[in-house]
Amino acid sequence: MKNILIIGATGQIGSELTMKLRKEYPAGNVVCGYIKGAEPKGALLESGPAEEVDITSPQMIADAVEKYNIDTIYNLAALLSAVAESRPQLAWKIGVGGLYNCLEVSREKGCALFTPSSIGSFGETTPHIKTPQDTIQRPDTIYGVTKVTGEMLSDYYARRFGVDTRSVRFPGLISYVAPPGGGTTDYAVDIYYSAVKGEKFKCPLKPGTFMDMMYMPDALRAAVEIMEADPSRLKHRNSFNIASMSFDPEIISAKIKEYVPGFEMEYELDPLRQAIADSWPDSLDDTCAREEWDWKPQYDLDSMTEDMLKNLRIKFGIAEPAMA
Ligand code: SER
Repeated sequence: MKNILIIGATGQIGSELTMKLRKEYPAGNVVCGYIKGAEPKGALLESGPAEEVDITSPQMIADAVEKYNIDTIYNLAALLSAVAESRPQLAWKIGVGGLYNCLEVSREKGCALFTPSSIGSFGETTPHIKTPQDTIQRPDTIYGVTKVTGEMLSDYYARRFGVDTRSVRFPGLISYVAPPGGGTTDYAVDIYYSAVKGEKFKCPLKPGTFMDMMYMPDALRAAVEIMEADPSRLKHRNSFNIASMSFDPEIISAKIKEYVPGFEMEYELDPLRQAIADSWPDSLDDTCAREEWDWKPQYDLDSMTEDMLKNLRIKFGIAEPAMA
């Protein structure tokens, strides 16, 4: 029986992953860990237990693990790439200090631990096309530095102390539920909001900027499946490349136009985000995840676009535009 603590449960991934885990396991066994100022609301609050757990406090993590007899921790606390550049010390404190706290509690209490890594763990010197699972990781951002450190520290704890640490490298995640905030891939979420609201989209990245992206339902499934995977098949742990689609602003904009003919986009470049995006891979090779735990995405750009637009229209009570 799994008793799960999600740290950062009210964030972009956590708010949806918590609800999914409460469907997969008894809802009362899935604890929503939040920080002051980001308390859970609505269904997230009502569907199961919630506890204040600040990842920078090892005591708070240990107390929650003790109180709920936790055997699995999902560590989702992080600052995304662009915002981390404005607060690098805090990014390290949460990304590395916070992970260290989770690892130590997991070692002492025998918990399994999931901590996402990212396409941001790669850098300028990484092969950018079909980036291999095992390759150069010399990221140029503090976000990437925390992710690579996290991958290595998690593998060390698995090897040295037998802690069951597992991870995937998430691409840019696209969802209509909780906005990302502060990432380099956020434009691929914002563009759908503009399209549905009938606004012209100002794109912060230039044409030809390819990055891996993924629809949230696939990302959530990956997080659950990697923790359920048969450990005897895993040659890797921290962290698996996973992929489903790669596009640039021109491709996603053209796809949206198929569904929203009047949609318009113009470029208003953000030099920080452009530099970060240029240092990241164009597309990842996820062969190892497919071979070692049967990873397979379900959504492509077309099916994601249809679902995003449909759900954002419902969210904002906006009628579908008449097709030309
Ligand atoms: N979505 C993240 C970001 O843009 C990358 O993992 O920072």
